[in-house]
Amino acid sequence: MATSLMSGLIASGHSPQQIWVSDTTPAILQAHRDNLNVNVSPDNLKIVQEAEVVVLAVKPQVLREVSLQIAPAIKQKEALVVSIAAGISQTSLALWLGGNTAIVRCMPNTPALVLTGATALHANPNVNDEQKDLAENILRAVGISLWVDDEGELDAVTAVSGSGPAYFFLMMEAMEQAAVDMGLTEHTARLLVQQTALGAAKIALESAESPTQLRERVTSPGGTTQKAIETFQQNGFAELVSKALSAARERSIEMSKQLGAD
Ligand SMILES: NC(=O)c1ccc[n+]([C@@H]2O[C@H](COP(=O)([O-])OP(=O)(O)OC[C@H]3O[C@@H](n4cnc5c(N)ncnc54)[C@H](OP(=O)(O)O)[C@@H]3O)[C@@H](O)[C@H]2O)c1
Repeated sequence: MATSLMSGLIASGHSPQQIWVSDTTPAILQAHRDNLNVNVSPDNLKIVQEAEVVVLAVKPQVLREVSLQIAPAIKQKEALVVSIAAGISQTSLALWLGGNTAIVRCMPNTPALVLTGATALHANPNVNDEQKDLAENILRAVGISLWVDDEGELDAVTAVSGSGPAYFFLMMEAMEQAAVDMGLTEHTARLLVQQTALGAAKIALESAESPTQLRERVTSPGGTTQKAIETFQQNGFAELVSKALSAARERSIEMSKQLGAD
C-alpha cells in the first residue's frame, strides 16, 4: 500500500525528494530508492523528525510498537498522522501517539495498487482544514477519497469497499465457471467476464442513473436478461448480499476490539 501511495503521489506531480520512507528490510529500501528515487532510512524516528505528514502503513499488529517509537518526534513536530492500518481506532492511536496528535484514519482498498482505489477517511478534532486537504490529497493519488463523519462508519466502509473487490472477484469466478459449463473455453470465458465487469463499472460511473435504472434499461421484457435477473431475485440475491456485508462489518468491529488498546 505504501508503494502504491508513493507511486501515485509521484505520478501526480509530487517530487520524490519530498518523500522519506522507512522499512525494516534493507532490500525493500534499496528498491524504493532505485525505482522511485525517494529518500530512504531504516530509522523510523529519524524520518519522522523532519516530517509534516507521517503515513503509517505497517501491519496493524506492529502499529503499537511503531507508534510508541515515533511518538516523541510526532509530538515535537506536531505532525499530522495518517493511518491506513485496518481496524486500529483513533482512541488506540491517540493513546500510543499522544492525546493531542492530529490523526486521520483511513480505509483504502486493494485497487489502490492500480490507482483505482476507494478510500474513506475520518479526522479527529485535532486535524485542521489544511491537514485535511493534505490527507485527502495523499489518498487521492491512488483513487477517490471520501470523508465520513463518524469513525464507526469505517466498519461499514470496510464491509463495502475494503472487502468489496473480493465480492466482485467471486461473481466473476462464478460467471466464468458457468460459462465453461456451457461449453466456452476458459480463455474466452475469462475475457468475456473481465471485459463485461469493466464495461458495467464504466457505465455505472459515467452515468447519472442508479444501478436499478441501468439494469432495467438493459433488461427487455421477456428476454434473456430478465430470465437471469428473475432467477437471482427468486433465490434471495439481495438478502444474501446484505447478510454477507453485515457479517463483514461485524467481523471488522470484532477485529478492532482484538487489535486495539481501547
Ligand atoms: N493491502 C490492502 O488491501 C489494504 C487495504 C486497506 C488497508 N490496508 C492496511 O495497510 C497497511 C499496510 O498493508 P500492506 O498490505 O501494504 O502490508 P505490507 O505489505 O506488509 O507492508 C508493510 C510494510 O511495513 C514494513 N514494516 C514492518 N515493521 C516495520 C517497522 N517496525 N518499521 C517500519 N516498517 C515496518 C514491512 O516490512 P517487512 O515486512 O519487511 O518487515 C512492510 O514492508 C496495513 O495496516 C493494512 O491493514 C491494506
